[in-house]
Amino acid sequence: MAQNTLTITDNRTGKHYEVPIEEGNVIRATHLRDIKTSSEDFGLMSYDPAFTNTASCKSKITFIDGDKGILRYRGYPIEELAEKSNYLEVAYLIIKGELPNVEHFQAWEQNIKTHTMVHENIRNFMNGFRYDAHPMGMLVGTVGAMSTFYPDAKDIFDLESRRLQTRRLIGKMPTLAAWAFRHSLGLPYVYPDDELTYAGNFLSMLFKMTEIKYKPNPALERALDVLFVLHADHEQNCSANAMRSVGSSQVDPYAAVAGATAALYGPLHGGANEAVIRMLMEIGSVKNVPDFIKTVKSGSRRLMGFGHRIYKSYDPRAKIVKRMAYEVFEATGRNPLIDVAMELEKIALADDYFVSHKLYPNVDFYTGIIYQAMGFPMTMFPVLFAIARTSGWMAQWAEMVRDPEAKIARPRQVYFGEVLRHWGPIDSRPEPTMREDQVSDRI
Ligand code: CMC
Repeated sequence: MAQNTLTITDNRTGKHYEVPIEEGNVIRATHLRDIKTSSEDFGLMSYDPAFTNTASCKSKITFIDGDKGILRYRGYPIEELAEKSNYLEVAYLIIKGELPNVEHFQAWEQNIKTHTMVHENIRNFMNGFRYDAHPMGMLVGTVGAMSTFYPDAKDIFDLESRRLQTRRLIGKMPTLAAWAFRHSLGLPYVYPDDELTYAGNFLSMLFKMTEIKYKPNPALERALDVLFVLHADHEQNCSANAMRSVGSSQVDPYAAVAGATAALYGPLHGGANEAVIRMLMEIGSVKNVPDFIKTVKSGSRRLMGFGHRIYKSYDPRAKIVKRMAYEVFEATGRNPLIDVAMELEKIALADDYFVSHKLYPNVDFYTGIIYQAMGFPMTMFPVLFAIARTSGWMAQWAEMVRDPEAKIARPRQVYFGEVLRHWGPIDSRPEPTMREDQVSDRI
């Protein structure tokens, strides 16, 4: 009968080890520690920079099958949620595990709206940023600063405290994001309007001018809400991993969300859609696409918005975003960069380099084009991502806090530096010599 174990033979010693296989395909890395050549030996460990084949947690939140292009939140296909649900309902689902009924949804929405205001000192804090501060840098700093406003958030093992911080963060992120945007324009900050939807209120705080009441364009309000749904969670991506890793020290969630937001800032993660727009503008027109593809294939640059660590087929979110682009253009007018993007996609998907590397458009390939058409500057793109991802971060964090197996994140390393040297006075040290192989070590 088949057994759920792995037999390992250590050819150094001839010994055999039986390692249990859990959940169908998981072995615990700590079992490798038993494999030793002597009692003084540390034991084997796995080496996996960037966690390409290491599960860092067990999770019930988001399921992805990267080969088949499947994304589900708590079992619900992303396509159904994007078409039929709204962001606050999806945030509830991600955080609480079930879709809400009418009564629970109303209470949840009310709770979030109660927390859209921020302390006036946060407003003063934001005013301290330079006139040209990047809104994502402002967001990282301001979310971190919120830790000092809510000392009760340190009680992370208290369920009611966790719930309160979750509502506060989901409620306040759009306010901070919109104010960062207004700051960069030198415009007065707009206070939240609780009569509007989550996305509508955000648009109001961004774009309201002298009118008494801001009326969001329904098409843009819905498009933004769908984009929030698509970005709400994505299992153990770089920023979720940062959230869990920072949170594993048992710091309060504002500090952990600041860490996650910082992770999202980078061009390989939440900054990719900005990089896509810069790339499309540089290419400029459809006729320049073939030459650009050649430079990508030569290895001198990347096709931004293509490729994914997990998806080895078309990112299901990208399909929805691409379709939605045309609906948005009906309200905003066409963004001409869509033609360059479509041509890039057409040529890349027929090219052996991209096919053999399994490189397909990811969610960021088309989102920037929509955001730009809606009037967002590029610097706001990762900020929009951060608003949506806050529910995912909080769900990942709460799951970790409740996990009996959770410990402070602390990977091992493979040390390959000097073995042992002894200190000598500064005036008797030899001229530093640098071996060829050491040059790249110097920072
Ligand atoms: N253009 C050209 N070649 C690429 C690209 C690309 N966009 N992405 C990967 N490759 C090649 C890469 O050169 C390598 O080739 P080879 O094996 O011949 O050396 C191979 O594909 C594997 O690349 P990798 O960098 O080892 O793959 P990864 O899983 O570490 O990287 C990625 C994933 C998303 C960082 C990468 O595909 C990339 O840099 N894409 C462009 C940036 C981007 O669009 N990022 C947004 C990701 S989706 C949003 C999110 O989750 O935040």
